[in-house]
Amino acid sequence: MDQHGDSDPSTAVVAPERPVAPGAPPPPGQAAAPGAGRCRSRARAKPLQVDGLRPTDVIGAFFIAGLAMAIAGAAVAVANAIDSWAWGRWLALHLVLVGGISQLVLGASQFFAGAFLATDPPRQALIRVELGGWNAGALLLAIGVPLGSEPMVYAGAGLLLATLGLYAAGLAEMRRRSLGSAPWATRWYLAATACLVIGVIAGAMLAGAVGWSHGNLLGAHMVLNLGGWLGTAIVGTLHTFFPSLTHSRLRFPRLQGPTFAAWIGGVALLAAGYGFSLDPAVVAGWPLLVLASGALAANLLGSLTAARRPLSLPARVVAAAQVFLVLGLTVAAVGAIGAGPDEALADPTRAATATLLVSGWIGLTVLGSLLHLLAVLLRVRDLGRGMPEPRPARDIALTAVAALGVATAAAADLGAGSLDRAGETILIAAYLLLGARVALLAGRVLRTARPRI
Ligand code: HEM
Repeated sequence: MDQHGDSDPSTAVVAPERPVAPGAPPPPGQAAAPGAGRCRSRARAKPLQVDGLRPTDVIGAFFIAGLAMAIAGAAVAVANAIDSWAWGRWLALHLVLVGGISQLVLGASQFFAGAFLATDPPRQALIRVELGGWNAGALLLAIGVPLGSEPMVYAGAGLLLATLGLYAAGLAEMRRRSLGSAPWATRWYLAATACLVIGVIAGAMLAGAVGWSHGNLLGAHMVLNLGGWLGTAIVGTLHTFFPSLTHSRLRFPRLQGPTFAAWIGGVALLAAGYGFSLDPAVVAGWPLLVLASGALAANLLGSLTAARRPLSLPARVVAAAQVFLVLGLTVAAVGAIGAGPDEALADPTRAATATLLVSGWIGLTVLGSLLHLLAVLLRVRDLGRGMPEPRPARDIALTAVAALGVATAAAADLGAGSLDRAGETILIAAYLLLGARVALLAGRVLRTARPRI
């Protein structure tokens, strides 16, 4: 027990609230990041920073703000479903993607990077500015884009870009401070940030009606923000998070490099291909992403076969979500190769790809990860509390309903019209069931483990 009352290495993925001594084996059940054990010097770990932000404060604060934005986005989606309006769909999507999920990525990435670099989170002042800048930027966009106010759009986009700059600087500083060497701890996140910077500029151009005659700017915007930012952050994190979630180790560590190259290469080819009408780049980009998702799947299957049984509910949901990554990219690749590059951005392929990749992959990965990480936050702050016990029958049923919902909705998008209503209903039911569990845990975090920022 340290001065913060936080020290329990048994909860996998929890960043110890005190840096791991260089060369020390990672806590039990926590997979070592490739190369994390090697250390450049035998010096003792540096003492905690004076302002003493705990890693759980960082992830907790971004999670609470992100969940609030995501709930606002869900409310707008419901209002738009009842009485739709021109910007209703855009606002719901961007509150969830920019205000919600992007903040979960900002928080979780600094938490994971700190754990594997065995160093402290960024300073309190930096985290406060990041939180303020991101939320103010997202709100300015949420108001400015529907109102068509260019000053608000550019100010909002400017705040997001400035926050991303601080975030990247914070990651780089954590890496410099670290006594270990774990290049993969930040490499995925810095690459994701580079994609989002270009994606935000494209979004501001779309919102500001800046002319773009070279190609499909919206296509490039979606690829960079969904694939480049959220996708890269998720694929990168899964290389360390999924082994911890399953109490196993990364099966093929050497595959991480080729996976990174194929993923970033695929995103770059697609963004350039759509943005500048380079058809061969698009036709090459989708299969490269399929290849990257296959390599990731090999590592996740390796962890699943070695996993401690029974699997937890989060492990099941996150595992099921990755099936929709491979399926979604394959549907888009088959469309782009078979019917031309724009097929992937035109219905029905676009709708099915969006259902598989956004509702299936990103949505279920985020819900599964939240179920685990919120429980970890509670566990770290209250040592008497264990991690939720797996209940195989219930967990398998919940995961199956979610998977069935996504599969049925995607089948309906691809032409099985009769399944339309059923798919939507099952999917909404699955999200409500999993969302209710997340809300329950988030409520407990607010009551008993409120982040101190
Ligand atoms: C994480 C960041 C973001 C993600 C994941 C994202 C994602 C998306 C997606 C999926 C669409 C297509 C919506 C549809 O199907 O109707 C879209 C459209 C759009 N986004 Fe973003 N976006 C992000 C950030 C931004 C930002 C920062 C801006 C503005 C500065 C922006 C402005 C727009 C605009 C104007 C459209 C086009 C709306 C239309 O004409 O249909 N986005 N974005």
